[in-house]
Amino acid sequence: MDPVVVLVLSLSCLLLLSLWRQSSGRGKLPPGPTPLPIIGNFLQIDVKNIQQSFTNFSKAYGPVFTLYFGTQPTVVLHGYEAVKEALIDHGEEFSGRGRLPAVDKLLNGLGIVFSNGNMWKDMRRFSLMTLRNLGMGKRTIEDRVQEEAQYLVEELRKTNGSLCDPTFILGCAPCNVICSIVFQNRFDYKDQEFLNLMEKLDENTKILGSPWLQVNCSQQLKYTIENLIVIVTDLFGAGIESTSTTLRYAFLLLLKHPHVTAKVQEEIDHVVGRHRSPCMQDRSQMPYTDAMIHEVQRFIDLLPNSIPHAVTCDIKFRNYLIPKGTTIVTSLSSVLHDSKEFPNPEVFDPGHFLDKNGNFKKSDYFMPFSTGKRSCAGEGLARMELFLFLTTIL
Ligand code: HEM
Ligand SMILES: *[C@@H]1O[C@H](CO)[C@@H](O)[C@H](O)[C@H]1NC(C)=O
Ligand SMILES: *[C@@H]1O[C@H](CO)[C@@H](O)[C@H](O)[C@H]1NC(C)=O
Ligand SMILES: *[C@@H]1O[C@H](CO)[C@@H](O)[C@H](O)[C@H]1NC(C)=O
Repeated sequence: MDPVVVLVLSLSCLLLLSLWRQSSGRGKLPPGPTPLPIIGNFLQIDVKNIQQSFTNFSKAYGPVFTLYFGTQPTVVLHGYEAVKEALIDHGEEFSGRGRLPAVDKLLNGLGIVFSNGNMWKDMRRFSLMTLRNLGMGKRTIEDRVQEEAQYLVEELRKTNGSLCDPTFILGCAPCNVICSIVFQNRFDYKDQEFLNLMEKLDENTKILGSPWLQVNCSQQLKYTIENLIVIVTDLFGAGIESTSTTLRYAFLLLLKHPHVTAKVQEEIDHVVGRHRSPCMQDRSQMPYTDAMIHEVQRFIDLLPNSIPHAVTCDIKFRNYLIPKGTTIVTSLSSVLHDSKEFPNPEVFDPGHFLDKNGNFKKSDYFMPFSTGKRSCAGEGLARMELFLFLTTIL
């Protein structure tokens, strides 16, 4: 047969097959733009402005819509109501983690961030319990963060106020916090071992690909060395870049809004003074600073689509039926930039978290750590680091 004919025939078979697979799986999935065979909705999404694309889709199809990345359907939840209804009201069913084939192979379903089912439940419980125990030991986690804040300030002083890129220094501090929890020890910022660690973490993929993680362990055994290694890797992976990037943006925003900085410094002078280090107890008397940090996290929208979830069983959601295993994307961005809850959401304004008397105003829409059963396991630690590092430096 003519090779061209063979090519055309096999291509059309592929097309038909993918169309069939898409339509058979589609049944009662939420509506969405019509996918093309094989490539799905890729061409309909502006990759340079995914959040705006999602907003546009939600206007056309409602707050719960389906997109195809390739042939795989992904259900997107847009806006507070849909995100809350899924992650809180149906917390159990929406607590799965979306599969990433590359990660799947390397991690063998171990650890916290990318594990599922009972493995995830046990590992998350175990890690939180262990972290809590370490924090309640002789030297609390707060002591460690306070100590690290002093080293951070010292390191910044060494620059003599000259121009510098603080990326490295602001990465060291959150890394040392995890080190002091995991290894019971912090490192000097020039320590060769520490520098090696930081470099390795930067090349995350290399770590994930290390032979240690590919060891085939019997899936039944959970409390194995391999699992412990993945958990520790998870803590480093999830706990450093996120915190240091938030710190970096916080300083950028403070530089751009000197009147905000002045108010925060006034509050620090008033509550903490100049003769001791800030501690967590101070926060309740510092509504403006608290609001500023919330506003930084809201404004920078660090993980606009969180980390993909998956549904753990077939579930009826609103009027749809979402089959077990379907990837779920929660648009945290759409919640953090809700214009009713936060008027002028594109403006950086700590007033978004203050009432008219200047008291701190809590908001259910504050979800940079996501919400529900699968939300950030390090939220408490992250918020402590942000508060202590920022106030100590200021
Ligand atoms: C500003 C800093 C941080 C932000 C904005 C942040 C945000 C997030 C978000 C959005 C998720 C996904 C939640 C979901 O799937 O619903 C997550 C997961 C996670 N984070 Fe964080 N995080 C931060 C710092 C940390 C720190 C310091 C740690 C470590 C001690 C940490 C540990 C984790 C872990 C273990 C998970 C996976 C939870 C699970 O799958 O059950 N994070 N984080
Ligand atoms: C969203 O919709 C507006 C108005 O219809 C359009 O101008 C804009 O290009 C769209 N943006 C994206 C990223 O799809
Ligand atoms: C800062 O000043 C000290 C003493 O004046 C000097 O030894 C040091 O090299 C300076 N550091 C930088 C980064 O300029
Ligand atoms: C892993 O080891 C188990 C037994 O210990 C074996 O049954 C299984 O086939 C192995 N899996 C791989 C991918 O080698």
